[in-house]
Amino acid sequence: MITSETVPIITMRSITKRFGGVTALENVDLDIRAGEVLAIVGDNGAGKSTLIKILTGVYQPTSGEITMNGAPLVMNSHADSIAKGIDAVYQTLALADHLTPAANMFLGNELTRTFLGLRWLDNAKMKLEAERVLKERLGVTLRSMDAATESLSGGQRQAVAIARAVYSTDLKVLVMDEPTAALGPQETARTLKLIETIRDQGIAVVVISHSLDDVFQISDRVQVMRRGRRVGVVETAKSSSKQVLGMIVGANEIEESAA
Ligand SMILES: Nc1ncnc2c1ncn2[C@@H]1O[C@H](COP(=O)(O)OP(=O)(O)O)[C@@H](O)[C@H]1O
Ligand SMILES: [Mg+2]
Repeated sequence: MITSETVPIITMRSITKRFGGVTALENVDLDIRAGEVLAIVGDNGAGKSTLIKILTGVYQPTSGEITMNGAPLVMNSHADSIAKGIDAVYQTLALADHLTPAANMFLGNELTRTFLGLRWLDNAKMKLEAERVLKERLGVTLRSMDAATESLSGGQRQAVAIARAVYSTDLKVLVMDEPTAALGPQETARTLKLIETIRDQGIAVVVISHSLDDVFQISDRVQVMRRGRRVGVVETAKSSSKQVLGMIVGANEIEESAA
């Protein structure tokens, strides 16, 4: 049960990010609580992707601080964030289409065995492990573990990418940038189910989404970004898509400047 008293696992404070003359983020705060689904919404260019790239060590902030469980967290690379249990599944799913799901899960991290003094890929073990993680952690069974990843549905590909994140680290925070953007209704429903499954394991899920339908279906809280700033955070159950939409487009600002 998420309550407003739940202590954040991650805090980002006064995060500013400049790219040359462009200020992508200006004094942005973000709290992430264990076991919540936090949605981040905002128009194109609002700074959503930049914020989560800082959270996942891909970019370093120009200024500002991040803490994890109260201790300062400095990440110089995405490998640093993975080591801390923060991983991401990107919009353009970074999966190798011609490889099997298991090969994708273990890409760059292959299991090996020694035979005749040489190290060999342990394909049988990787396949079993991939099958187990998909089933036990995500409740997903693929028809065949030997088919190329390109033959999977969008939702299944999503599951493979999440399984990879779950397997490669003691996952605490999973970030997803537009996970349902390219999916039809059925695959979207499956992906939302995967997010719930992960959340129910105590993992915080941070989801960037353009779909307020999805956001209101799965999130516990919504952080609204606009022009590089945080314009508000609402508890989903106490808000409405109308209110959030108003924050996204800056309805109050327009009224104020018109007044
Ligand atoms: N690598 C970059 N170099 C220069 N400007 C960037 C870079 N990444 C993002 N920006 C700029 O930062 C702002 C925020 O972008 P982004 O975080 O991608 O927004 P969103 O994900 O909300 O659409 C935009 O004005 C964008 O053009
Ligand atoms: Mg983006």
